[in-house]
Amino acid sequence: MAQGVFRDGLLAGKSAFITGGSSGINLGIAEALVKAGAKVAINGRNVEKLEAAVKGLQAHGTALGVAADVRQYDALAQALQTARAAHGELDILVCGAAGNFPAPAAGMSSNAFKSVLEIDVLGTFNTCRAAFEHLRKPGACVLNISAPQAYLPMAMQAHVCAAKAGVDMLTRTLAIEWGGLGIRVNSITPGPIEDTEGMRRLAPGDDSRGKLLEALPLGRLGTKQDIAQLALFLSSDAASYITGSLMVCDGGQSLLGSGLMLKALGL
Ligand code: COA
Repeated sequence: MAQGVFRDGLLAGKSAFITGGSSGINLGIAEALVKAGAKVAINGRNVEKLEAAVKGLQAHGTALGVAADVRQYDALAQALQTARAAHGELDILVCGAAGNFPAPAAGMSSNAFKSVLEIDVLGTFNTCRAAFEHLRKPGACVLNISAPQAYLPMAMQAHVCAAKAGVDMLTRTLAIEWGGLGIRVNSITPGPIEDTEGMRRLAPGDDSRGKLLEALPLGRLGTKQDIAQLALFLSSDAASYITGSLMVCDGGQSLLGSGLMLKALGL
């Protein structure tokens, strides 16, 4: 089945591994990659959620679930080993596992801050580090899922701002270190994407949604398909000269700065 502007079989024969792949944006990416012909392994913490997601993916192609917490290096390395044994060398690595909740810095415990830093930054590092030996060289690509908080300071989001800024710097550093091996490393920065856990947590209710829609230059929330299309492009040969880029897909959200966005969200 054709997907947007992309031809059938765009990623035929490729192998992908996606952390946080049981739901939301990352599951949307997994679906697009499977439909484009890639063999996809998704990773998550919750085995039940993982199995349900894999079942849905298998209706479209080859998919496998490998449970592990991205904060636990050895478990993650084992999950990558299992995926390699089933699907071969890795062409596409998506580091999507993330944590978020709105909380003021003065009311957040040290452990709460640490949890998000560990899932986002350490988790992304662990995934890239453990996947390194399995990545096809040359030709592999890494997509780290970031957020506008990486460069827009936002109240109630000190942990996420610090974490996603770290993720983007990992992207840029690894792009330099691994470029010579023919591995591309990019970040995708999704804006407000409907029907996701992030939006349910940050903009619950019709009021904040309405204010957000009024503020967004494109006047609509993004869809998982919007992000999946970007992931398909970055994974494909069409993006073979793109590395170290922080690719924003946010309907213009970041043009407004954090003040207007926070007002829209009532934060
Ligand atoms: N406000 C303030 N503190 C919170 C919180 C909230 N809404 N939710 C969790 N915390 C704190 C906990 O109290 C705990 O701190 P403590 O030990 O000092 O009490 C700490 O965060 C860790 O909580 P725990 O539930 O043990 O964490 P976890 O590591 O299993 O979960 C989270 C990680 C907290 C980030 C969790 O929200 C999560 O996994 N979310 C995933 C889904 C998600 O957010 N997706 C959207 C990404 S954009």
